[in-house]
This record gives sequence, C-alpha cells and structure tokens, in this order.
Amino acid sequence: MAVGNWVKVANVSDVPDEAGYRVEIDGYPVAIWNVGGEICATQDSCTHEETSLSDGDLWDDVVECPLHGAQFNVRTGAVLSLPAIFPLKTFPVKVEDDAIYLELKD
Ligand code: FES
Repeated sequence: MAVGNWVKVANVSDVPDEAGYRVEIDGYPVAIWNVGGEICATQDSCTHEETSLSDGDLWDDVVECPLHGAQFNVRTGAVLSLPAIFPLKTFPVKVEDDAIYLELKD
C-alpha cells in the first residue's frame, strides 16, 4: 500500500484572499486556493487545454478558467461548466501555523 508523505509547499501568507497561488512540485503545477480562510489544492492546469487556473478568477469555491471560461469547484475538483469535461485532481491539505502541507502519494 502506498504511503503518502506531507510536503510543505507554501505559507498561508503567500496565498492571496480568494485567488490562486501556483507552486510546482517536481515540475507538476499545483494551485493553492484560499476559500474564505480554508486552504485547498488542485492541479493548476485546466483539464480543457492546460491553461493555468491560478490566473483565473475565484468566486467562493469556484474558479473560472481565464482562457475559455470552464468552471471548477476547487474544494472537490468537480467540473461545473463546459468546455472542460474532466475534473481536477485535488490534494489533501493540512495547515500548521503558517505552513501549508500537501499529501503526495508515492
Ligand atoms: S483551457 Fe480552460 S476552458 Fe479551455
């Protein structure tokens, strides 16, 4: 059974209110989201044509892709509107003091 490991990726103070913050983990882009104080993490690449979602607008827990307007729930990764049809990968998050950790599976 694969055992996850927790990796520090950012500080809470790095993540703007109600916007995305892009980090790269071993070359894989991840977006960190601050949804009213709750930290969430998803893949940063839109599942339509791989635009960076952290450049999009966030309303509550919904981000809109800046290229063609697909919308995703950043808590669940669910796709909410076309043209994207595939959900986002999400990551378990924990926050200790100001540090944000993601759980990465082996
Ligand atoms: S690249 Fe995101 S909707 Fe097309």
